[in-house]
Amino acid sequence: MSKNLADKVLTDILNATALPNVISFAGGLPAPESFPVNIVKNLAVEALDTKGANLLQYSRAAGLDSFRQTLAEYVKSKQISTTASNIGVTTGSQSAAYIIAKQFIKPNMRVLVESPTYLAILPIFSSFGAEIIEIKTENDGINIEHYEELLKQGESVTYIMPNFHNPTGITTSQDKRTKIAELIKKYNTLLIEDDPYNELRYSGQPLQPIYCDAPENVIYLGTFSKILSPGLRVGYFISTTEIVSKLASTAQMIQLHTSNLTQAIAELYVAKGLLTEHLPKIINLYQKRLDTMVKELAPLTQQGFEINKPQGGMFLWVKLEKDITGEALYEKLKQKGVYIVPGEVFFPNPQDGKGFIRLNFTNVAEDKIVEGCKIIRESLG
Ligand SMILES: Cc1ncc(COP(=O)(O)O)c(C=O)c1O
Repeated sequence: MSKNLADKVLTDILNATALPNVISFAGGLPAPESFPVNIVKNLAVEALDTKGANLLQYSRAAGLDSFRQTLAEYVKSKQISTTASNIGVTTGSQSAAYIIAKQFIKPNMRVLVESPTYLAILPIFSSFGAEIIEIKTENDGINIEHYEELLKQGESVTYIMPNFHNPTGITTSQDKRTKIAELIKKYNTLLIEDDPYNELRYSGQPLQPIYCDAPENVIYLGTFSKILSPGLRVGYFISTTEIVSKLASTAQMIQLHTSNLTQAIAELYVAKGLLTEHLPKIINLYQKRLDTMVKELAPLTQQGFEINKPQGGMFLWVKLEKDITGEALYEKLKQKGVYIVPGEVFFPNPQDGKGFIRLNFTNVAEDKIVEGCKIIRESLG
């Protein structure tokens, strides 16, 4: 990752939030108008009414038992068959990643990641002294031969996002998922399967998580950030009971436990079927926004741009025409009040990302998407 550029882009984007008339395709935020504010308010009251003072007391590091049971039931909808004791609750999946890294990453250990990968994950692994190694990545996931070569070279941990990857939007094919599961069993290595966008599928068929074929070797990460609210900070991991108990001890050291109140809200949200009711609404909202963005940018394909429409998630990954760099386009658009993320920030070697930009479509209303895309087209005309 280009740290200076990443810092500069992040600072610009945060400063821009205070400016009027800015259109930001930069963040990775859900639409605030999708947050079920009244429902959450009522669920908080119901949780306090039913669980009372227990909810305001300290509790167990692995999470509330009733919530873990509800989650075990819920993840069947993602084709995962597990039990409450295989689940640990975390303060979002970012904190799960930190807890896992603290538990498993030793100095100089190799961490294998897709190329590119999630921007905010690299500093976690690096802070424990990991050596980050990129696995060659194709439109349907990592290159299996290259992955095996890297696994053969010695101990490692793998981190991948199989659904609607951040930033590229790509989904790992079922065939590759099966092969990845076989390889991690063969080399007896640990894989972190980060799946925050799983439920946000707009086209195609849901695919089985890698966890299903290799439950002894995978730590699966889920979160309520993209399907309920990121501000509640509720996520979870699924793995062996041995790993759950190790990670719960590590989590206890860091934060004692995740907030009982937000766990109870998420529990009721799932158990009362409200999530099942809410999902089609956000899927519909986001799908329309994605379609609008793709339609508005389509004319650019005649100029040599490649628009990679994802099957779900929050990001559109655009390959630029060869004479433009992401950073140059970023600077140009910033002058016009439109913010994007240049591809350079997502790669350990920024040069590898100079031909790309990432656009978020979930946090911008359709009319603003039309306006922002017009500015992008005119800037490139
Ligand atoms: C791939 C990926 N992992 C993890 C996270 C963090 O999610 P949470 O809010 O659950 O910590 C994000 C947020 O954008 C993400 O894109």
